[in-house]
Amino acid sequence: MTEGDQGPAVAGAMDLLIRYGDILGAERLVETNNVCGASIYGPRHSRVLGTTDPDTLFSEFSLDLRSPVPITPAAAHSCQLIGPRDHENWELQGLSAQTNDEITRSERYLASIGVSILNTCTPYQVGNVPGRGEHCAWMESSAVPYINSLLGARTNTEGRESTAAAMLTARIPYAGLHLTENRYATHLVRTAVPISTMFEWSVFGYWMGWHLRDQIPVIEGITGPVDPIALKQFGAAMNSSGDVELYHMPGVTAEATSVDHALNGIRPEDALVFEARDFDAVVEHLNSTATGDDIDFVMIGCPHANLDQVREVARLLDGRRIKDGVTFWIFTPSALREVARRSGWVDVIERAGGRVMADTCPAIGQFVPPGAKRFATDSAKQVHYLPQIMGTEGRFGTTEACVEAALTGRWVA
Ligand code: F3S
Repeated sequence: MTEGDQGPAVAGAMDLLIRYGDILGAERLVETNNVCGASIYGPRHSRVLGTTDPDTLFSEFSLDLRSPVPITPAAAHSCQLIGPRDHENWELQGLSAQTNDEITRSERYLASIGVSILNTCTPYQVGNVPGRGEHCAWMESSAVPYINSLLGARTNTEGRESTAAAMLTARIPYAGLHLTENRYATHLVRTAVPISTMFEWSVFGYWMGWHLRDQIPVIEGITGPVDPIALKQFGAAMNSSGDVELYHMPGVTAEATSVDHALNGIRPEDALVFEARDFDAVVEHLNSTATGDDIDFVMIGCPHANLDQVREVARLLDGRRIKDGVTFWIFTPSALREVARRSGWVDVIERAGGRVMADTCPAIGQFVPPGAKRFATDSAKQVHYLPQIMGTEGRFGTTEACVEAALTGRWVA
């Protein structure tokens, strides 16, 4: 590949992976047939290069090549993660027709080289469910702990360039969490607080990220099935305050059968214990940007909502009316929006004055409703990022509290 037998794009991609692998200390590459990256471009990219030629933009922004080369089709099963715009509601986002057209052209280009346009941070909700032990190259930080931990797949948190190179070569450096010896737990965690709801899992996850940064915990004492939606929120929260790419929960997650197995027999002297005061500290921190209780924007669906979440929001809004002056958006993968539409839930939400959005989110697309000053969300990740990205104050609580805020325009904790 490096000699150009498969074309200059593959040669450039392989050169990038070899340099990247050297930095990681990888002895070799590993084959992958499951890549999730983000190579959409828009006006910001074409302005920098002064061209809308897709091969040139892909060469520069996705492969870090100095000279443009013709891009060859993806060699691995490849998916586009979340993008910058909702293909139905781009006007609501405040995008121009020109921006919309450029993003559409970019999607068509990616599809033409074999990339599935899933446009979600939760590919595992819409058909890309990697198997146990499968080597993947995924980029989205909330999806990485989900597939590593719940499914037992193997990925590091990749970037735009490494996933693009992996798409073209079907290879990724054999380093980090691809190796069994790097997947053992380093920390033992217990909770003194009962954890069951999605809200509680989010708070617990945010606290874990605070304390563990990029370490691997095993959580002792959680029994029984845990709702995958709660674990979707859990992983997103811990990868906002920290960078926990893998956790073990014997009996719940895919790999470790016991705490000792997770720790490879090496028990740390002390366990990290999550206490009631930690719970309160996280909730206080995640509400700390808000200077009041008036709410003019409610955002649900970070990571993208699954069907149960959309249905639950429809149930809470059924027959009611969102307060004038409040914008209510719930985000879900576009494939699930279609199912929700056919199930009648989109209709119920829209009758109440809300919108079901897809393909994007406010933090990634960098948009909020015009004039929005303070938003409410049930996502620890969105409230962590959006105030920093858009300068909008944030409130964080349960889904019910967020819907109530949409109906009344007031936050009641
Ligand atoms: Fe997904 Fe955007 Fe949240 S990418 S995880 S909805 S910040």
